[in-house]
Amino acid sequence: MPLLETEGLVKQFGGVTATDDVNVTIEEDERVSLIGPNGAGKSTFINLVTRRLEPTSGDIRFDGDSILGLDPHEVVQRGVSKSFQTASIFPELSVLDNARIASLAAEHGKFRFNFLSRLDSYPEVDELARTTLSDVGLWGQRDVPAEDLPYGDKRRLEIGIALAAEPDLLLMDEPTAGMSPEETQATVDLIEEVKEGRDLTYLLVEHDMEIVFSISDRIIVLNRGEVIAEGPPAEIREDESVQDAYLGGVEA
Ligand SMILES: Nc1ncnc2c1ncn2[C@@H]1O[C@H](COP(=O)(O)OP(=O)(O)O)[C@@H](O)[C@H]1O
Ligand SMILES: [Mg+2]
Repeated sequence: MPLLETEGLVKQFGGVTATDDVNVTIEEDERVSLIGPNGAGKSTFINLVTRRLEPTSGDIRFDGDSILGLDPHEVVQRGVSKSFQTASIFPELSVLDNARIASLAAEHGKFRFNFLSRLDSYPEVDELARTTLSDVGLWGQRDVPAEDLPYGDKRRLEIGIALAAEPDLLLMDEPTAGMSPEETQATVDLIEEVKEGRDLTYLLVEHDMEIVFSISDRIIVLNRGEVIAEGPPAEIREDESVQDAYLGGVEA
């Protein structure tokens, strides 16, 4: 059974069809990239899967069950987590407290939280926060206010926050946007590292083709809301419809 499956997924904004009958499957443990020119519908697709957007028609199944009745936080509890382009960091709080809050949210429902207690009086939360920060290499900076972290480390913290939910599927929308080449490389390394240590499937939206070709098992290409190609990097590199879409699109 695929981990994620969409069937006839359509999202219209007024007259614009942002995703147009999208049928994709992602298998457990796969590293998949979603690419396409600006406006192709990539972010819309991600936001449909996280339930931030309601589809016009079609279905989305996670682990075999439709998630269409679920709220965004319930999707996270099922095991789908999104990193980046989210205001997930509390800038004035320390790195550790940010991790604690993410851990608390992840553990929510497993125990009863008393708002009069201190955040660090929950051993389960503390333990998860520590593991999470170690995983993304930020344990040494735990006492630093999040706003004082360099840009690349902030992105690391965001990945950590997404990982605290212990997702089966991690969605990333342009994680390297606005980064220097060094920060980009560090982020790519982090994504690969994080994947190595755990049972994780990811779907990455990324515009840098070299990254996409190096980091993916499979690539799905969207153009004007439609899947125009999918396959392993070597196949996509040679695909003429993909080359046409990029040359004819907004981006070269
Ligand atoms: N909230 C929205 N309201 C109206 N139109 C939108 C909205 N979000 C996206 N669109 C339109 O849907 C299309 C796909 O957008 P998007 O998913 O952001 O593309 P991508 O992430 O591939 O650049 C674009 O034409 C965009 O203008
Ligand atoms: Mg986008």
